[in-house]
Amino acid sequence: MLDVQRLILQEKRPFLDAQKCFVSSDLRAALPAHEGAAVRLTDGRRSLICRLYVRPELRPGTALVDGCATCLVPVGAEPPPAGPPARLSVPEALSVTRLSVRLVCSSAADVLRLRRRDAAVTAARALLTGRALSARCRLGCAGAPLGRRLGVLWLEVTCPQLTGETLGSAAADADVTVAAVETRLHAEFAAERPPTSGHATARARLTAAARHFCRPDSDRSSSVLLLGPAGCGKATLARAAAAAAGALPVTLRCDDLPSERPGAAQTELRARAAEARRLADCGPLLLLLRAVHAVRGEPRAQLLQLLDDVRRWPRTLVVATCSQPQQLHSALRSAARFDTELHLTVGGAEDRVEHLTHHLAGRSLVDCSMQQLADMTPGYSVADLRALCREAVFGRTQQDAALQLADFSRALLVIRPSALKSGPGAAPLPPLSWDRLAGVGSLRARLRRCLVTPLRRPDAHRRLGVPAPRGLLLHGPPGCAKTSLVRAAASECRAAFLTASPAELFSPYVGDSERAITELFQRARMTAPAVIFLDELDAIVGTRSASGQSGVQAKLLSALLNEMDGIGIKQDQAAVDSAVFVVGATNRRDLIDEALLRPGRLDQHVHVPLPDRQAREEIIQLYLTGMPVCDDVSAAELADMTEGFSGAELRHLCNEAGLAALTEDIGASAATRRHFLRHLGAEPDSDGTGPAAGAGHRSEVTVQS
Ligand SMILES: Nc1ncnc2c1ncn2[C@@H]1O[C@H](COP(=O)(O)OP(=O)(O)OP(=O)(O)O)[C@@H](O)[C@H]1O
Ligand SMILES: [Mg+2]
Repeated sequence: MLDVQRLILQEKRPFLDAQKCFVSSDLRAALPAHEGAAVRLTDGRRSLICRLYVRPELRPGTALVDGCATCLVPVGAEPPPAGPPARLSVPEALSVTRLSVRLVCSSAADVLRLRRRDAAVTAARALLTGRALSARCRLGCAGAPLGRRLGVLWLEVTCPQLTGETLGSAAADADVTVAAVETRLHAEFAAERPPTSGHATARARLTAAARHFCRPDSDRSSSVLLLGPAGCGKATLARAAAAAAGALPVTLRCDDLPSERPGAAQTELRARAAEARRLADCGPLLLLLRAVHAVRGEPRAQLLQLLDDVRRWPRTLVVATCSQPQQLHSALRSAARFDTELHLTVGGAEDRVEHLTHHLAGRSLVDCSMQQLADMTPGYSVADLRALCREAVFGRTQQDAALQLADFSRALLVIRPSALKSGPGAAPLPPLSWDRLAGVGSLRARLRRCLVTPLRRPDAHRRLGVPAPRGLLLHGPPGCAKTSLVRAAASECRAAFLTASPAELFSPYVGDSERAITELFQRARMTAPAVIFLDELDAIVGTRSASGQSGVQAKLLSALLNEMDGIGIKQDQAAVDSAVFVVGATNRRDLIDEALLRPGRLDQHVHVPLPDRQAREEIIQLYLTGMPVCDDVSAAELADMTEGFSGAELRHLCNEAGLAALTEDIGASAATRRHFLRHLGAEPDSDGTGPAAGAGHRSEVTVQS
C-alpha cells in the first residue's frame, strides 16, 4: 500500500466512467502493477476503484482521478486523520462470473424502455465491459456514449464472489442478474430516512393509506388532503409515509409554478403531471402536491383535471398539503377530489418532546429536560422548534459546551411561533407569575380547575366521560386583576395563547371583522391546545337587546357564536376543536349577550370581586415588599382604611406614597405612614392644604394658567 501525498478528484463530473487513476512517475515505479491494472484508492471517506495509468508531468506523490467506481461500503483500513490524503493499493484481481446489478436511470421513460424484455440485462452487460469491480460498488455510466444513449446514470453492482480485499472484472459469459431498474429519484430516496417524530394519529392513518394504495399489485389510487399550519411537518409526514410504504414521493410545489406569461403554469403542471404518470408506471408513487391553495384562476382547472386523472393511475397516493384552508377553493374540498382530509395542528407537548429529541440528537442538556423545553414552547411547530434549537446551539457562549436552559431562554426571545407572529390573535401576552398577584387564592384554584386542568389533562376528562369546559368568563369591577389572572393562568397551562382586542377585530370593511374571528379560531385550532383570550368582551360583541350594539358588534357576535359551536368543523377536527378554550373578560357582564354565556359556550362564570380586607392586606404587603418604607407603615392598617379599593388602586396608593416621599425630598430613602395617609385623605399636605374630599382612589392634577 502506497501513501498518496496529493489526491486530485475531478468530482465536478461525478458520473464520468473513465475509471482512470493517473499517478506521478514515482508512484508508478513503486507499484507492482501493469498499466491498466485495477487499483484501489482509499481516502478515508470512500474507496475508489480505478485503473492505473502514469502521467509523468504530475508532481511526485500525486494521484489524479477523473471518474471512477465508488465502493458502496468503504473497505480496507482507513488512514488515520493525520495521515496522507489517500492510500493506493493493488489488490488481487479475479474474473467475476456472477453478479447482480441495479440500473439507475435519469428518467422514467428510460426505466420503462429498459424494463421491456431483456433490454436491461443486455444494457448491463454492455455497460460492465472492461470495468473494474469490487464486492459492492457504484459505476458511473453517464460519461460513456452507451450510458448516455440508454439514459443510465450509474450501476450499483454486487459481486458475491469478491471479498472486501479483492477486485475483479466481469467475465464475458458472466451470469448478470438485474435486481432493479429505477430512476435516480428512486435510488436517492431509498437512501433517505425521513424523520418520524410527532403527529402519531395522522402518521398512522397516512401510512396505512400509503401501504394500502401503494402496494405493487394495487391498481387503484387514493387522495388525502393534509391541512395544517405552515411548518408543522406536513410534507415530511408524507415523505415518511412514502418511505414506510416503499413508494417514491414526487413533489410538485404549487406555490412555485411559473406565472410570467399566461398559460405557463398550466404547461408546467401538465409536464410535471406527465412525468409523474410515467413514474407511476415505474413503481408505487406518492404524489405530493404542496400548497394547493396557491393555485388560483386558470391553472386551477388544470390542477382539478390532474386530480381527476390521478384517480385512474395505478398504485398511487396523492397527498396535497394546505396551510391556508380559508383560501382553498370549494372544488378542492369536494369528496370527489380528496377521499380523506387530515387536520394537523402544531402538536402538543408530547409531539414537541419527540421533535426536540430529534433536533437535539447527539447534544447534551445540562440543567433542563426535553419535557421542560416542550413545556416552554406551546404553539411552536416542528419548523419553529428546529429554528429554536439552531438558535440555542449557535447562540451559545461556549461553542463546545453542553446546552443550558439559558441558551433556550435566549433563543425563545428571538424565535417566536410562526403561527402567532402576525394577524388576529398574535398580540403577545407577557407571561406573569402567580407570585406577582396577591389575595387571589380561591380565584387561582378556580382558574386552575376550569382552565389549566382541562388543557393540561384532557385524558382525565375523557376517562370520566365529562366534557371539558370550553369557555370561561371573568367579570368584575375594573382593576381587580381579571387580565392579570388570565396572564398568570396562561403561563401555567402550557398552551398557545391568542389574544385579540376590539381594535384588532373591528374593521370598516364589510366582512373583515367576521373573517378576523374565523381566522382567529382557525389559528387556535392549528396551534391547539390553545386559549383564545378576548379582553374587554363587552366592547367586542355587546348584547343584541341593547340598542347600543353596533352592526359590526352584531356580526362579530354571530361569527363568535358560530365558531364556538364548531359550525363547519369536520368530524376529525372536532377533537382538535375541543382543545381550544375561550376566555372572555369584562367589567360589564350585563352587556354580554346571554347567548354567549349559555352552557357549551362561555359557561364558566368567575366573578372577580373587589378585594376583601384580607386580600387588600396581602396586595398592599406585596407592593410594600418592592419598596423601602418606614416601620410605621402597616399593611394591616392600610387595609382597614381602603375599603372599596381595587387591586389597581392599591398599587396606585403605594406608587403615590413613594412619589409623595420623593416630591418632599428627592433624597428620601423610604416612604412613611404620613405619605400613605395623605393619599388616603387622612393627613394634610405638606403645604397644609389637605387633599380634596374623595381623593385617594386616584390622583387629580389641575393645571392653572
Ligand atoms: N390581586 C392583585 N394582586 C396584585 N396586583 C393586582 C391585583 N389586582 C390588581 N392588581 C394590579 O392592578 C393592575 C390592573 O389589573 P388588571 O389589568 O388585571 O385588572 P382588570 O380586572 O383586567 O381591569 P379592567 O377591567 O380595567 O381591564 C395590574 O397592574 C395588577 O398588577
Ligand atoms: Mg383587563
